Amino acid sequence: MKKIDFDKASFKDFENIAGQNVYETAREFQKYLDFLKSAGHLNYRIESLSPVGPEMNLILPGQKHPTWCVCLVSNDYLGFSQHPKVKAAVIKGAELFGAGSGASPAIGGHFVYHQQLENKIAGFYKKEAAILYTTGYNANSSSLQCMLYRNDEDDNKNDLAILDMNVHASVFEGCLTTNVKKFLHNDLVMLEHVLKSAQHKYRTIMVVIDGVYSQDGDIAPIDRIAEITHRHGAFLVVDDAHGIGVLGENGRGVIEVFNAFEHVDIITGTFSKALGNIGGYVIASPALINYLKFQSKQHLFSTTATPAIMGILKAIELIDDEPEWRERLWENINYLKSGLIERGFDVGNTVSAVIPVKVGDIPKTLEAGRLLLKAGIYTNPIMYPAVSKKNARIRLNVMATHTKEHLDKVLSAFEEVDKQLFISIKYQSDI
Ligand SMILES: Cc1ncc(COP(=O)(O)O)c(C=O)c1O
Repeated sequence: MKKIDFDKASFKDFENIAGQNVYETAREFQKYLDFLKSAGHLNYRIESLSPVGPEMNLILPGQKHPTWCVCLVSNDYLGFSQHPKVKAAVIKGAELFGAGSGASPAIGGHFVYHQQLENKIAGFYKKEAAILYTTGYNANSSSLQCMLYRNDEDDNKNDLAILDMNVHASVFEGCLTTNVKKFLHNDLVMLEHVLKSAQHKYRTIMVVIDGVYSQDGDIAPIDRIAEITHRHGAFLVVDDAHGIGVLGENGRGVIEVFNAFEHVDIITGTFSKALGNIGGYVIASPALINYLKFQSKQHLFSTTATPAIMGILKAIELIDDEPEWRERLWENINYLKSGLIERGFDVGNTVSAVIPVKVGDIPKTLEAGRLLLKAGIYTNPIMYPAVSKKNARIRLNVMATHTKEHLDKVLSAFEEVDKQLFISIKYQSDI
């Protein structure tokens, strides 16, 4: 068995170790976790004693007592998980309907608040029909698995998923049981080439992209992708998990940025980010949605969301009623992003609330995460396989509820980290 170099390893290396059964793999993985812990690099699953927010009270690794830290780890971009009107709606949901929903949707678990949410999220995107899933992950993985098949035993070509290589893990999982081709991130020439070579060879071809890409914070040129996709007889699926509530004049996400409501065949997304709750959705033609309602297994055979999702109905309304949250979010995004750029950090092509600070290799990124945490700044080190091995970074998620003081503290902490680890562009160009 090849020895894994813990210094350069990532979780991916322990996914499937040749010749080891799962218990042996787990023991090896435990050694890796212990190695990370001893270096102060196991900054995951940090327990918070306080609610989601721009500051959280955390039990830091190796500490017994909690510490208040500035947090840039939450996708609750607008702060709606803590909005008094959203909380009141959640409480009302519990008072009216209790804690659970009791059954899967087809056999007793479909309540008025589920139906209202399906109608509301479809209407939000000017569409007619939607289906709910209990997570955004399931919305992608289950719907794609249901809509696309692999070649049958006689090798009759069935379906094909064409994926931007940076789509979310849930999309890759949804496509495990179909034929898959990938194109380089946002590379439209390559997309067109793949589509051309696939034409007339499959029953259904779906191009699947994200609206906002979750590790880089950049966006897909949906209008041009839709044009190329449809010209080759394929369908376009857009997962705008990080765009909803954040981008577009009215918070309809990347689809609104490109005014592409008519050009996207299937929209998927999540209630867990700017809408401050949990759950996912797929929006498509009424017939396709009805098909999913009775054929998509993780929907059909799984208990529906709890009445707490009544908070989402309110959060969707707040996107229109209180646009000031989106304005504050953008003030914060622009402030933090320009502050990082002025200090020479590489933030890539982000145009959203996800700001990557490129660091380089895995050990340096883990160390940057540790130093930031020591300075009271909680961030996420992102490594392979989420990004390529040389492209590890610290990911910052900005919230509307961050103050300038929070963001100044973040900028100063990055300046200090740079003095120790030399991660800004000025050091890279010296090499
Ligand atoms: C692009 C994208 N799609 C889907 C998901 C899954 O959503 P959820 O966390 O609601 O399961 C995420 C993130 O978690 C994401 O970043």
